[in-house]
Amino acid sequence: MTTFGKDFVFGTATASYQIEGAVNEDGRGRSIWDTFSHTPGKVVNGDTGDVACDHYHRWASDLDIVAELGADAYRLSIAWPRIQPTGVGRANQAGIDFYSRLIDGLLERGIKPLVTLYHWDLPQTLEDHGGWVDRDTAYRFADYVELVAGALGDRVWSWATLNEPWCAAMLGYVTGEHAPGRRDPESGLIASHHLNLAHGLGVQALRAQTHSRVGLVVNYHQFAAADDSPEARDAVERLDAVANWIYTDPILRGAYDPRTIEVTKNVTSWGFVADGDLDVIHQPIDYVGHNYYSPTWILGGTNQAEAGSPWVGVDNVTFLPPKKPLSDMGWAIDPAGLTALLTRFHERYPDIDLIVAENGAAMPDTVDEHGEIHDADRTDYLKTHIGAVGDAIEKGVPVTGYFTWSLLDNFEWAFGYTKRFGIIRVDYDTQQRTWKDSARWYQQFLATRTL
Ligand code: FCB
Repeated sequence: MTTFGKDFVFGTATASYQIEGAVNEDGRGRSIWDTFSHTPGKVVNGDTGDVACDHYHRWASDLDIVAELGADAYRLSIAWPRIQPTGVGRANQAGIDFYSRLIDGLLERGIKPLVTLYHWDLPQTLEDHGGWVDRDTAYRFADYVELVAGALGDRVWSWATLNEPWCAAMLGYVTGEHAPGRRDPESGLIASHHLNLAHGLGVQALRAQTHSRVGLVVNYHQFAAADDSPEARDAVERLDAVANWIYTDPILRGAYDPRTIEVTKNVTSWGFVADGDLDVIHQPIDYVGHNYYSPTWILGGTNQAEAGSPWVGVDNVTFLPPKKPLSDMGWAIDPAGLTALLTRFHERYPDIDLIVAENGAAMPDTVDEHGEIHDADRTDYLKTHIGAVGDAIEKGVPVTGYFTWSLLDNFEWAFGYTKRFGIIRVDYDTQQRTWKDSARWYQQFLATRTL
């Protein structure tokens, strides 16, 4: 039996572009995801976030659901183009007001707000000036954070500067699977550095105006060597260097690992790292959030670094097919991978608290004749992964929170509405919300916090 202490924070998570809709309301500017989703061929079925879950209008009843679940906290993100429609200049008051109502709505319901400042909806105007490849974007981010922190300040329980810088940089600028859809390996590394810089500047802007907890959320890949060979272990280290440590080493240790530079030396000279950048990036923070869905098993290999691969510069590696069972994303379901990831991260960075900021599964849900969704597969996923967090805590890893992804079925980026991650079903024709069995299970679990 595992019981989580009363200070451990359980919640559920969402992100602005995936749920809000109302893309043309109250002065919101265009983001790179508006442009990308409206570009034919980029998103399955041509789906867009134009309406999504209509959360912009339904936020109050959505927050009632969070309260009814009995969650301690709720993780949301702020759409930068609602605050600064073109990414610069003074705040759009209607945008501030929306998030202010949302935060107050959470506090009135006794729910702690965890606010992500960048969950990928970059103002399109900034992308037109170079996006994350342009150093200036990091400074624009700091201005935006200053506006938000000034308006919402200490009402926010916990801040996250960025969500998954790896996805923003590597899927956005190297593979082109995400907005803005560019395909250039060096741009991915430059974007990574500028996202790190934005994080550091963002932390400074937050600390100047709030006393709340400050951190960031990463998707630290759980690379697992599939055998004991030195080649497999070496491949893990090189992948870690370009996909994991590239963010948390400068942020938590104040330097890029020499392996990161070495692995990518044929792609870039790293001349874009200016004097003083690492000091700015290396700000004290209170926690690192991890998003975990699935591990990746690898072996050594004898191949060249692949052009267009998100693992920039990495050669001699074999990715094994995911082990069954799989989720509806085709991702391996492996709770032990979560324990391993948290443990591995803690070994490298022993002094920082961790939370699981996203964890959940897309499943092929069906609605039965009574209108019910018996998603035993998702319930099982949540149960075993919360158990895996308990295992990490038992091993001494300081994990202090867990958030399910996601509260609602929503716009799953390049997969549009074809993948359902919610514990609450959304009928996109009627916008009706229906509790899946997994939501009922989470509610019961939260009442006892015991597995
Ligand atoms: C993560 C994203 C989140 C969601 C899940 C499934 O990479 O942070 O927005 O799409 O994956």
